[in-house]
Amino acid sequence: MKEKIKALNTFKFKTKSEAETLRLAGMFGKKVGNGQTISLKGTIGVGKTIFVKGLAKALKCDRSPISASFSLMKIYEGAKLNLNHFDLFRLEDDEAPYLGMEEYMGEEESISVFEWGSPASYLYDRDELIDIDFDLSGGDNRTIIVSAKGAKSKDLAGKVYQLWRKKKK
Ligand SMILES: Nc1ncnc2c1ncn2[C@@H]1O[C@H](COP(=O)(O)OP(=O)(O)OP(=O)(O)O)[C@@H](O)[C@H]1O
Ligand SMILES: [Mg+2]
Repeated sequence: MKEKIKALNTFKFKTKSEAETLRLAGMFGKKVGNGQTISLKGTIGVGKTIFVKGLAKALKCDRSPISASFSLMKIYEGAKLNLNHFDLFRLEDDEAPYLGMEEYMGEEESISVFEWGSPASYLYDRDELIDIDFDLSGGDNRTIIVSAKGAKSKDLAGKVYQLWRKKKK
């Protein structure tokens, strides 16, 4: 069974509250490795920043991320890994290639998380990516689809999926 889960690329999670999404993100934060890139997609208010907060808490970051309405990127210092939080909401498609963000993404001892990362097409050209789609599913319910590309990302998503299922029992 373990092997089967590892081979999958897509994992479906359901959360019923902000607290549950924080918990799910915390599992990613506990298992994530250096250099991981995560893209968060989904409509306004669906829970992308909440997910980033959960990641930051698990990484023991110095501050809790906020919706960065005036900045495209903020760095939160963690105990072992820093969290680079990008929010490209206000970015036009043709602006993304000129921001030099790739330099941060390759930086040692950090992970990079993108909200509204679609203009940054180079995100999707990478060999390793965790791509997360958030959907509103009525009230406080959210459907969270995690797609993993590359061996490291698949391993991470598979580990979290197993952890999540174990906690649900
Ligand atoms: N299951 C859930 N998971 C996450 N957030 C939830 C959930 N249920 C309700 N919420 C609420 O939804 C809101 C999500 O806000 P958040 O800022 O994370 O959205 P966002 O996707 O980052 O939006 P934006 O595109 O504007 O950046 C919060 O007010 C949170 O309390
Ligand atoms: Mg947000």
